[in-house]
Amino acid sequence: MLKVLKKRRAIRKFQNKPVELEKIEQLLEAATYAPNDRMREPWHFYVMQGDSLKGYEKVALQFLQKRFPTKPHLVQSSLEAISNTPLVIAVTSAIVEGDEGSTKENAYAVSAAIMSMWLMAEDLGLGMVWRTRGVGLVHDRALHEYIGATDQEQLIGTFCIGYPAEVPTTEKKRTSYTKKTTWL
Ligand SMILES: Cc1cc2nc3c(=O)[nH]c(=O)nc-3n(C[C@H](O)[C@H](O)[C@H](O)COP(=O)(O)O)c2cc1C
Repeated sequence: MLKVLKKRRAIRKFQNKPVELEKIEQLLEAATYAPNDRMREPWHFYVMQGDSLKGYEKVALQFLQKRFPTKPHLVQSSLEAISNTPLVIAVTSAIVEGDEGSTKENAYAVSAAIMSMWLMAEDLGLGMVWRTRGVGLVHDRALHEYIGATDQEQLIGTFCIGYPAEVPTTEKKRTSYTKKTTWL
């Protein structure tokens, strides 16, 4: 297991090749086995490919143009994160009205589901990255509205997925657990 965990990486460049439906279904199924408080199963997945992905690209373009009106090159390069991706899955978590604790715990459970999906992707020979900033549009209403999420949901992440076109060369060295642990 440790070997698998160490092998998982964020992949941001993808081949121009669609992801098979069975593989997408396996990613989603893997996510649903995550632990979750009181079996609220607080996740919802919004799968975008083809035309729906083109629509997301338009939403992201509008967002970027508004954010960086004087930097067309930055807009274009940022947009490539989506335009060069065959599959995007946006994941939301259920908001429990009037219950901040449960709402937080739902987000934790969704994060666990995402990790399962990421490891499943690795196992299926797929690459994936969790995006929140910029085109990830997690901190903006535009994507939330585009996918048709309700006010009882919050966006946790936007996931670009595909067959990898890169092998990460830079090592993401981790600080030893010994420096992050207090034995009481
Ligand atoms: C909550 C969260 C948000 C992230 N947001 C972004 C993002 O907006 N853009 C991006 O390129 N990567 C994003 N990442 C991926 C991290 O940059 C990446 O996981 C980190 O650099 C460690 O690299 P590794 O996953 O290859 O080990 C995010 C990861 C997490 C867990």
